[in-house]
Amino acid sequence: MEKLEAALAKAREMRKSTGGTLQSQHAPVTPKAIPVGDWSSLPEVKLTPARMQRNRITAVLGGKNATPYDMLRSRTIRLMREKDWNRLAVTSPGAACGKTTVSFNLALSLSRQKDLRVMLFDLDLRRPALHRVSGLVPPHSFHEVLDGRVSFEEQAVRIGENLILAMNATACRNPAELLQASRTGEILDEIERTWHPDVMLFDMSPMLASDDNVGFLGNVDCALLIAAAERTTLPNIDICEKELAQLTNVLGIVLNKCRYADKLVGYSYDSYS
Ligand SMILES: Nc1ncnc2c1ncn2[C@@H]1O[C@H](COP(=O)(O)OP(=O)(O)OP(=O)(O)O)[C@@H](O)[C@H]1O
Ligand SMILES: [Mg+2]
Repeated sequence: MEKLEAALAKAREMRKSTGGTLQSQHAPVTPKAIPVGDWSSLPEVKLTPARMQRNRITAVLGGKNATPYDMLRSRTIRLMREKDWNRLAVTSPGAACGKTTVSFNLALSLSRQKDLRVMLFDLDLRRPALHRVSGLVPPHSFHEVLDGRVSFEEQAVRIGENLILAMNATACRNPAELLQASRTGEILDEIERTWHPDVMLFDMSPMLASDDNVGFLGNVDCALLIAAAERTTLPNIDICEKELAQLTNVLGIVLNKCRYADKLVGYSYDSYS
């Protein structure tokens, strides 16, 4: 707990020193000397429909099952555009609230808008899951990019024309140190300057499990907090929302895993024909 308090204080200081404003964007306007990354040069990977269905990745093709994520996409993108934000972290109070599921679905939903270039990073470095959920084996882990052992180009893969995934094949041994390192912020800035994504999404670890995210959240513009219905307690949502608000801008709280879905959400116009 003391460690968490100290990390929070450090992160607050960092935010203050950068102005702590909503406009404290990370990557400056692209200098002319930096080569622009060619998205089509990254290896393209394909998702398997059966695996996607099994893992509740329903936003691949659109339609009724994608509706909740498309609604989340519309609200997210509207708020982020209003504020000129492009980096969004997804976290939750405890484990298994659905961060990876929501992040991946949101990334796919965003990427169905062809004018948006989207990057999804697996930053749950203790228990990376994006490679398991997607069924894709990355050639290297993104933590190796953060460690400086591998270049982003060697690591990243592409789905379609406008979605890049930065996954991990293995867990990382020093997640807190790596996520809090100033070099990590510089690497993200470099990636942003080179590849010009419109949205950078970060699938994070749970907030109450460790202080991994605390030093990192100064690198993002905003965060979504995922709570699991009938599982995440209100006091825990409250604690985490307050903590998040000290580190970044809270875009909203998503209540996931509701058993009784609103029948109006995701209804199909086709059913009237
Ligand atoms: N809306 C939902 N309804 C039912 N099950 C869900 C829903 N969203 C996710 N799940 C399931 O809950 C489990 C945990 O989901 P997920 O891995 O996305 O959570 P997480 O918050 O990323 O977990 P972790 O803390 O381990 O990283 C998975 O089996 C997933 O398929
Ligand atoms: Mg996860």
